Amino acid sequence: MSTPLLEVRDLAVHFGGVKAVDGISLSLQEGSIYGVLGPNGSGKSTLLGAITRLTPATRGDILFEGRSYANVSASRVHHLGVGRTFQTVRLLEDRTVRDNVLLGADTTRKSRAEIAERADYVMELVRIHTIQKVRPSELSYGMQRRVEFARAIVSDPKILLLDEPTAGMNTNERQEITAVMRLLQTEGLTQFIIEHDVAMMVDVCDYMYAMNFGKLIAEGKPDEVVRDELVQEAYLGKRAKKHA
Ligand SMILES: Nc1ncnc2c1ncn2[C@@H]1O[C@H](COP(=O)(O)OP(=O)(O)O)[C@@H](O)[C@H]1O
Ligand SMILES: [Mg+2]
Repeated sequence: MSTPLLEVRDLAVHFGGVKAVDGISLSLQEGSIYGVLGPNGSGKSTLLGAITRLTPATRGDILFEGRSYANVSASRVHHLGVGRTFQTVRLLEDRTVRDNVLLGADTTRKSRAEIAERADYVMELVRIHTIQKVRPSELSYGMQRRVEFARAIVSDPKILLLDEPTAGMNTNERQEITAVMRLLQTEGLTQFIIEHDVAMMVDVCDYMYAMNFGKLIAEGKPDEVVRDELVQEAYLGKRAKKHA
């Protein structure tokens, strides 16, 4: 296999006695959609924080295109080509949709004209180009998340990390956002989704990891992972005798 686009080796993040992430290893190849499934509190957001370097790691290594970036600042990680969305909507209410999208642009690498062209392109891609001048407060939750998507991809990242992209969405909005993810995949964008919504993950992921209490408990094809005994336990609270 070729060098992974992003690799995580034995990554740990401990907050005092809380082992939020406790020895996770992942290998993400270019072009696929990966997911990490896990119940609330299992360490998903902390894992994403450590991968983006916003949260300091206790141990382990993270590599992008085969090179360690474990000591690189969060803003430089963005410049490497790692984009992300947050678990909660973070848009500026007093700015237009277009301005919010432009906030995600990497101004160190592109001219204003190139950035404007890219913004037009991504807004059309996620179908918010007709509401460019609207302010976020006037939009439905699903539309606000689309704006966040556009902001995350306007810098043309090589990988997009998504923290619960369908949280708080209705069925229709959910389907729309998963359609956007598939569209981005056809453009070659690698995606890494952390979620607790099982159905959405099985629907959209090519490969899935499952975690609980900061550790990986399963990985493989999504339909196999959800049938895994440890995953079932983590979700249903069932305690099989041999683990009790
Ligand atoms: N900054 C922090 N300080 C202390 N504990 C934290 C911090 N962030 C997260 N935790 C704890 O780490 C665990 C994992 O949290 P989190 O990564 O947010 O889980 P998830 O995203 O899967 O719901 C939880 O027990 C949470 O309380
Ligand atoms: Mg979380």
